[in-house]
Amino acid sequence: MEIIEDLRRMRSFSSSSRGKGLRVVLVPTMGYLHDGHRELLRTGRQSADLLILSIFVNPAQFGPKEDLGSYPRDMESDLSAARDSEVDVVFAPRREDIYPVGYRTYAEVEGLSDRLCGASRPGHFRGVATVVLKLFNITLPHAAIFGQKDFQQLLIIRKMAEDLNLGVEIIGVDTVREPDGLAMSSRNSYLSAEERKAARCIPASIEEAQREFEKGVRHAPAIVEKVKKVIEMEPLAVIDYIKICDGSTLEDIESMEGGAHLFLAVRVGRARLIDNCPIGLERRPLL
Ligand code: PAF
Repeated sequence: MEIIEDLRRMRSFSSSSRGKGLRVVLVPTMGYLHDGHRELLRTGRQSADLLILSIFVNPAQFGPKEDLGSYPRDMESDLSAARDSEVDVVFAPRREDIYPVGYRTYAEVEGLSDRLCGASRPGHFRGVATVVLKLFNITLPHAAIFGQKDFQQLLIIRKMAEDLNLGVEIIGVDTVREPDGLAMSSRNSYLSAEERKAARCIPASIEEAQREFEKGVRHAPAIVEKVKKVIEMEPLAVIDYIKICDGSTLEDIESMEGGAHLFLAVRVGRARLIDNCPIGLERRPLL
């Protein structure tokens, strides 16, 4: 396994692999790898001749009061997970190479970026889109893999790839969950034992939404109310948003006749946890 920090070296490595007719697949991450990332790597490995894992904690996607400084990092353990997942190249650029002094250029996907997490974290998706575009330009992938846990991010990257004719196939992978249904996230490491138990209210509330839909409820605000009640029963949980939206435009919807997509952001202790799930007749149990 190669470990590459240098941008030019990474680009020429990928470029010569493409020249040999190899399929290059990128899994972009901020490190602190868990089973969710392993699943992205497993999916990538299936079709890649050259599988690249990028590890870069991207300052541009954190707000001034957010957790950039304390975001969990463990390069040794990430490298060992990368080896286990048969990664060919770990690309771990330096911050000053990605954003040198005087950096001025940002990518923005209008509309999709302003809703849900974009409303709570202004500028977040501008930072995500920018770094992903840069990672694509450096690693030159045929395909890139993203988790559905960050569903809004996946839609935004897909739209950017389409609008800017990037020629990169964007592949979404199902959310990987803990045995009690909590979506895997590097930020779960912020939770104390008590908070970890409390976070169980998130998958439980999604299950409640699904049950309401199955009972025949199709009025989105009524289902949002039920979800809210489940979370409010947990004193350690603070709701950021609960929304039922169209799963492609992310616009709020009232009638769920054709199914819909539930999105939540909930703070438990200092962790801001997000989750989402399609709500429809084909039940996809979380456990
Ligand atoms: O999902 C993440 O870990 C990050 O947002 C990404 C896509 C690696 C960009 O920094």
